[in-house]
Amino acid sequence: MRIISVINQKGGCGKTTTAINLSACLARLNRRVLLVDLDPQGHASLGLNLKPENLLKGMTEVLTQGTCIDDVICESVSPNLDVAPANVTLSSAEQLLASVPQKEQRLLSAIQSIRRSYDYVIIDSPPSLGLLTFNALRASDEALVPVDMGFFSLHGLAKLIEIVDVVARHTGHAVIVRALATMVNQRVRFSREILGEVHRHFTDRTFKTVIRNNTRLREAASHGLPITEYDSESKGAADYAALAQEVVALEMNLPVGATALESEPVLAEIEAEKYLGPILIEEIFTEASKRSVFKSEPNG
Ligand SMILES: Nc1ncnc2c1ncn2[C@@H]1O[C@H](COP(=O)(O)OP(=O)(O)OP(=O)(O)O)[C@@H](O)[C@H]1O
Ligand SMILES: [Mg+2]
Repeated sequence: MRIISVINQKGGCGKTTTAINLSACLARLNRRVLLVDLDPQGHASLGLNLKPENLLKGMTEVLTQGTCIDDVICESVSPNLDVAPANVTLSSAEQLLASVPQKEQRLLSAIQSIRRSYDYVIIDSPPSLGLLTFNALRASDEALVPVDMGFFSLHGLAKLIEIVDVVARHTGHAVIVRALATMVNQRVRFSREILGEVHRHFTDRTFKTVIRNNTRLREAASHGLPITEYDSESKGAADYAALAQEVVALEMNLPVGATALESEPVLAEIEAEKYLGPILIEEIFTEASKRSVFKSEPNG
């Protein structure tokens, strides 16, 4: 099972759109996919027609009360694609877990029980670098960072790479980070410049696929449908299908058994004792913030 978190603390850069549509396109490639909504905004749930306000239980209960994730999983409109939904109550998780030991590993523990049921777990994260994002990173083998064509999003990517590097040094848990250019409009000069920056700074860590600006993606979300179901002929559907192909092609490169869940149960226990005390997140963010973001600052 591959676990990929979709992360960028910059808001509105296409995390949820990517999480939903990558999941749907992977499902079309016959992969069994679970989309985990880890954002109190509940947009991934809403984008697949699950009304967050009607939820009886979801990721809040999984993370804070130890509810089995199987008990909150819902089927989506697409075959092979299930959703673990969330709603606004998830914003209380940080406080509720404040004094809980191993609070950074709640998601990692929760998905142990489903590791034979899915080929992919895709995690949609909130636009912040708090406990929820940290849980997503901790549970993941890979992080996909959408970068819309603006400087703040690019900055978010650089900062995230710093944090992942610091986490790896502290815990021994390495996450492969890859950027994905989103909302690209090649006719706009600034969009081309940012795309150039992404490739220049993060050459080996960038998906070749680029997600173009496409209104059909917005419309699909508002209808509670993945683009595959809403308009399979659109540019948005073609781009996310290409991304899914690229993600699947990377299956060949993964070391056998090298997933966070399968390779680390013992390590996780040792780490928990050694490293994952209550101040770890703060330490990591402080250390990351002391380091320079870019070797050379991009123009604009
Ligand atoms: N490629 C695209 N073309 C056009 N619109 C897009 C594209 N990708 C995303 N959008 C739209 O941009 C807005 C923000 O996208 P999205 O919700 O996916 O971002 P996000 O990073 O999840 O936001 P947040 O940080 O609030 O969770 C949405 O209205 C979405 O429909
Ligand atoms: Mg979102």
